[in-house]
Amino acid sequence: MKVLVIGGAGYIGSHVVKELMAKGHKVTVFDNLSSGLKQNLFAENDFIQGDILNTTDLDAAFGRGFDAFIHLAAFKAAGESMIKPEKYSVNNITGTLNILNSATAHDCKYMVFSSSAAVFGEPQYLPIDENHPKNPENYYGYTKLSIEQFMAWYDKLKGLKYAALRYFNAAGYDPEGVLYGLEQNPANLLPIIMEVACGMREKMKIFGNDYDTRDGTCIRDYVHVTDLAIAHVKALEYISSKNESLTVNLGSETGTTVTEMVEAARRITGHAIPADYVERRAGDPACLVASAKYAAEKLNWKAQYSDIDTLISTTYNAYKKFNSEKK
Ligand code: UFG
Repeated sequence: MKVLVIGGAGYIGSHVVKELMAKGHKVTVFDNLSSGLKQNLFAENDFIQGDILNTTDLDAAFGRGFDAFIHLAAFKAAGESMIKPEKYSVNNITGTLNILNSATAHDCKYMVFSSSAAVFGEPQYLPIDENHPKNPENYYGYTKLSIEQFMAWYDKLKGLKYAALRYFNAAGYDPEGVLYGLEQNPANLLPIIMEVACGMREKMKIFGNDYDTRDGTCIRDYVHVTDLAIAHVKALEYISSKNESLTVNLGSETGTTVTEMVEAARRITGHAIPADYVERRAGDPACLVASAKYAAEKLNWKAQYSDIDTLISTTYNAYKKFNSEKK
């Protein structure tokens, strides 16, 4: 298929592009390079530098004619979204509405969207399945939930068929080592651990060790970015072959504590990774673990690269390669 990947120069987007190419799809990347990297682009693909807030850019892109598009262009810092909601309203919501209007105007009716486990908020039960109540605790999660609702309306009114993929904690890097462009100013756990392991920061903080978990630190379901990328391609094939929309959770179904992650990183990297236990970070639920049964049933998808050692070693390799090329 001819696929437009919006946000295809970013961390997850570039892995999705690599997987689409491996499956023989013809890819064009659309990205404003605000956080995406030129380094993440493949020479074989067309690249459009454009912005989802610019409807002329979008119309020019969709005017080229695509069978489908994947939308990964969003701000994603949950904490920041509570302080600067307008930034998230404009980019995530207005930007997506621009995309929906341009895509449907140009008859591009298959969409795969990066949603998030943040749509659920504090878990009412575990593991979290697709029917779990949706009460986002931060504005970022609300933008994702509202976009899921917009897509459902565009399905009814415009015949858009979409896949909403609710990622749990995306982590890891391309196991083949082709993609190793690092995110700038990361806020997520594994990149911060790696910055300490690689001497880019002195030490790290562990936010809270008094949670009701096996070692007192928060439990998350870390899912490898290559597993997510595989799911995007399967979701695209599902919605286009069945002409049916789909909303699905993507996780490894395994919970790992922050301390377990840090200790595994010490073992794998051989670095001490100094860490201080500090107070809890606002808005962190104690435990988030996905049920991926529906993804298995509908997409025949199961995480294959999401064990802790693969998550850490692929990330460490990316950090080492990136840093050695910078020198
Ligand atoms: N953590 C630390 N120290 C750090 C950074 C994180 O202890 O320096 C802890 C957090 O408190 C949390 C865990 O590591 O307990 C994971 O934190 P992340 O910031 O990496 O990820 P979150 O679980 O907060 O959120 C991520 C994505 C969201 C997504 C969510 C879905 O950033 O966009 O997963 O589960 F919605």
